Amino acid sequence: MSETRILMFDSGVGGISVFKDIKARLPWVSCTYAFDNEAYPYGELEPNQLIRRVESYVKHFVETQDIALVVIACNTASTIVLSKLREKITIPIVGVVPAIKPASQRSSQGVGLIATPATVTREYTHELIRHFAYGKDVVMLGTTKLVDMAEQKLRGVPVDLESLEKVLRPLKGSVDVAVLGCTHFPLLRDEIYQVLGEGVVLIDSGDAISRRVEFLLQDRFLSDSRNKASYDVYCSTEPHHKSALQLSFTELGFSEIKIQPLKDV
Ligand code: DGL
Repeated sequence: MSETRILMFDSGVGGISVFKDIKARLPWVSCTYAFDNEAYPYGELEPNQLIRRVESYVKHFVETQDIALVVIACNTASTIVLSKLREKITIPIVGVVPAIKPASQRSSQGVGLIATPATVTREYTHELIRHFAYGKDVVMLGTTKLVDMAEQKLRGVPVDLESLEKVLRPLKGSVDVAVLGCTHFPLLRDEIYQVLGEGVVLIDSGDAISRRVEFLLQDRFLSDSRNKASYDVYCSTEPHHKSALQLSFTELGFSEIKIQPLKDV
């Protein structure tokens, strides 16, 4: 019986939040998780450089491994690379974009969008708001600080609630629903709830992505669903605090973190 393997891509550990949803829904699907930590944070990267790097890294894995589907588990990349990537790679590519529509449907007071500095400026995001915010006020908050906090948390460093409160202050009292528009942020869900209060609903795209992946892989379901999945992880340069980070990956069932540099970008 052959395995079904997907490639998941992010700038760092954020895609892990999406991986957890996919693993819960499709425990028989194997995964290669690749992150471009050399160019982290993507929320502050020049767009053309971002496009070149994502194309090159994704192509490398699709060409060297038997990959059935790609998940770009990064809002900052998805809002800019998806159409270009689909021109070059013929297997299905699933992207992650801010969940403005479901958030606006649930909100009566106002929607907060917490994302990277790049995502809040992208035309794609503004289009989503124009089409799906249904006239609701959307307060946008672009922050790399929260991305760093999530990276630290997966290396065993506790989240400083006071700093988190400072970043989230503009949303306090003005929104009843907040979109976690960066895949790093569901990793801070508990802490964000502590700061914003349980009355604010937090929405991310992880579950919707896992349903989309299930739909796209359904033909393989009968033949592959009794397989035991395996999880590999690669990054583009030596990660900070590698051994602490390895603990988090091991806990999720991943093998040893391997370095795969990006070439010619
Ligand atoms: N996890 C990413 C996202 O969903 C990118 C974070 C970053 O590298 O700035 O946007």
